[in-house]
Amino acid sequence: MIIYVLGSAAGGGVPQWNCRGANSAAARAGSSAVKPRTQSSLAVSPDGRRWVLLNASPDLREQIGNTPHLHPDLNGPPRNSPIAAVVLTNADVDHVAGLLTLREGHPLAILASSRVLDVLKANPIFNVLDGEKVRRLPMQMNRWVEVLRSNDGLCQLDIRPYPVPGKIALYLEDPEDPSAGPALGTSEGDTIGLEISDGKRSFHYIPGCARVDAALTDRLKGSPLVFFDGTLFTDDELIAQGLLAKTGQRMGHISMSGPQGSLSALSSLDIGRRVFIHINNSNPVLRQDSNERAEVERQGWEIAFDGMELTL
Ligand code: MLT
Ligand code: MN
Repeated sequence: MIIYVLGSAAGGGVPQWNCRGANSAAARAGSSAVKPRTQSSLAVSPDGRRWVLLNASPDLREQIGNTPHLHPDLNGPPRNSPIAAVVLTNADVDHVAGLLTLREGHPLAILASSRVLDVLKANPIFNVLDGEKVRRLPMQMNRWVEVLRSNDGLCQLDIRPYPVPGKIALYLEDPEDPSAGPALGTSEGDTIGLEISDGKRSFHYIPGCARVDAALTDRLKGSPLVFFDGTLFTDDELIAQGLLAKTGQRMGHISMSGPQGSLSALSSLDIGRRVFIHINNSNPVLRQDSNERAEVERQGWEIAFDGMELTL
């Protein structure tokens, strides 16, 4: 199985268009210490010929352009693409806006929880994806779903979605609605993790997660590869840097550091490779020479970058 990081940053990317924070400014100036990054998405293929996207970011057009794996076959029909399906982990702008790039009549499957498919349904702009050709398939939690199968049975990709602690998409929060409660109207299926298998090996992709609970540690134990929410290093870093008056917890993201952080929560699990993805432009680990970067690497973590390719 080939796993290709199309985008490694959280919403906004690096640099973010309206941000002069340290990382955005360094990336904009071309510093070698902070690489530019597009918004988070993976492409996965069991055979290098047919590909499934995990989330569709607003940067998808540029990401496809930069990725020869995803270019049309020059010996194929005038319009073709190796992209066969898109699987969504939530309805956040940084994970669904790229669906609009995939209009143009290409046959596709979009797989997501019913909660997320309901959000797409309620936004008629997504009807630009021709319903005759683009199937929307609800995924049941904790059930394997067949995403790719070749006729000879040699190529397969299956995905098992599961709910993780998280939050409803930002644009669906309704602070005026008292019935929404402290969870802001969040229900199961608003944020999910994915286990992806080619029939021989499997890995996990969890770009958004508010907390590591016992169910999640049980799932991740012994996995050869986990991509995990790397939005923030410290829960209050956006406030401390004067960027936004919100904590990570309020945004539905666990931070890396601290007693409840992901470094600590996942440290004792037997995970082969652990990779942070969906990294916000405020996160000091983006700076190659930072103490925080050295610390996460010392604890065995890798920091995803655009164009990172892994084989499992
Ligand atoms: C998030 O990851 O919290 C969202 O992508 C935020 C947003 O919608 O900007
Ligand atoms: Mn996001």
